[in-house]
Amino acid sequence: MPGPDLAALTGAKGAAALDEARRSMQICNACRYCEGYCAVFPAMTMRREFSDGDLIHLANLCHGCRDCFYACQYAPPHEFGINIPKAMGDLRMETYAQAAPGTRWLVDRPLSATALLLAIMIAIAETYRRLLGGDAGGQGFYAVIGREAMIAFGMTAATIAAAGLIFGLLRYRALARTKAMAKVSITSWLKGTGDAASLRYLGGGGAGCNDTDEGFGQKRRIFHHLMAWGFAACFAATSVGAIYDHLLHWPAPYPWLSVPGILGTIGGLGMIIGITGLLWLKRIEDRAVSTPASRAFDTSLLMLLLVVAATGIAIRLAHESSWFTVTVVIHLGSVAALFVAMPLGKFMHSGFRYLALARHAGEQR
Ligand code: HEM
Ligand code: SF4
Ligand code: SF4
Repeated sequence: MPGPDLAALTGAKGAAALDEARRSMQICNACRYCEGYCAVFPAMTMRREFSDGDLIHLANLCHGCRDCFYACQYAPPHEFGINIPKAMGDLRMETYAQAAPGTRWLVDRPLSATALLLAIMIAIAETYRRLLGGDAGGQGFYAVIGREAMIAFGMTAATIAAAGLIFGLLRYRALARTKAMAKVSITSWLKGTGDAASLRYLGGGGAGCNDTDEGFGQKRRIFHHLMAWGFAACFAATSVGAIYDHLLHWPAPYPWLSVPGILGTIGGLGMIIGITGLLWLKRIEDRAVSTPASRAFDTSLLMLLLVVAATGIAIRLAHESSWFTVTVVIHLGSVAALFVAMPLGKFMHSGFRYLALARHAGEQR
């Protein structure tokens, strides 16, 4: 039995999650029936023993598509009780907890922690507005909170997020590190980028994943695309707006039919549709493949993203109405809460999965 390689998860929950993932992988490695479903099984067959770092890598490579659960002859009620999506999901939860040390309580109580963070950030945004107010003659949201104050607020939250994300990724790299790691070349990074951007392994072996039950489908993948690409479009809208405002000196607000207006509206609507779809799937999914803790963890990010997207669209609709000020304050507070929450919770999966996919592409080469 291999011991911890370079780093190990700590605590009883971490040890139990590693033990169950190791036991499952050893049985799967003897069986190999699921080889065609995803990247996990080809990666597994390259290993005879599973160090902690190997298991953390495999857990973050698993997309939780559930195909191997419904196909498995050793799934419960069989005495082996093999449940790969649940075992890998539990281990991923431990990775999130340890990527941001000292924040275990956030992983254990994600819904109340996120609601509290959101309330605090909205309160800070409102205090900020009352103390500093809008610019004299300012247009749109600059009439609510002045341009310089808005920039300072946004930059502070973005700096906290960027520092936390970099720290979390370095920490993940240390946790998933093994002695025999393949070199990740430029080609592997490109392959990993393609697999992450297309969510290739939420497509199962081709027929899709088991979204809610034994039937195959692409619903989960499509809803995630709408949410994640919608998020990317909103991010692009804000970046283009910043270039217009600060470099080209075209002051905000921008009309519906402008680059930031179109990107923000399409992105916001994509996020709302995708998030609503994922929340619906979560309500009707087979409870055997996840835990209340992992469902709450996912839901906390989904709810936060929903508030950000809905208030972003509401700002446009509330323009020049009495609701405008309150909408701007809630939007600003929710964006700040999202930035602060990014390194502490579910959002980190995007970086961890990207690193795992690039490493897998390197190993396969
Ligand atoms: C590198 C890019 C990304 C990859 C490969 C990826 C992959 C995945 C996968 C495989 C799942 C399902 C398994 C799980 O719940 O962990 C998932 C869920 C989720 N992702 Fe992503 N993701 C990416 C980026 C993003 C981004 C940018 C966001 C936020 C805008 C996001 C938000 C979520 C949320 C909220 C869930 C939980 C949804 C649910 O199952 O109900 N992801 N992601
Ligand atoms: S999940 Fe089950 S059927 Fe698939 S490889 Fe593992 S033990 Fe075999
Ligand atoms: S749940 Fe899906 S992605 Fe995860 S190991 Fe099974 S087949 Fe692969």
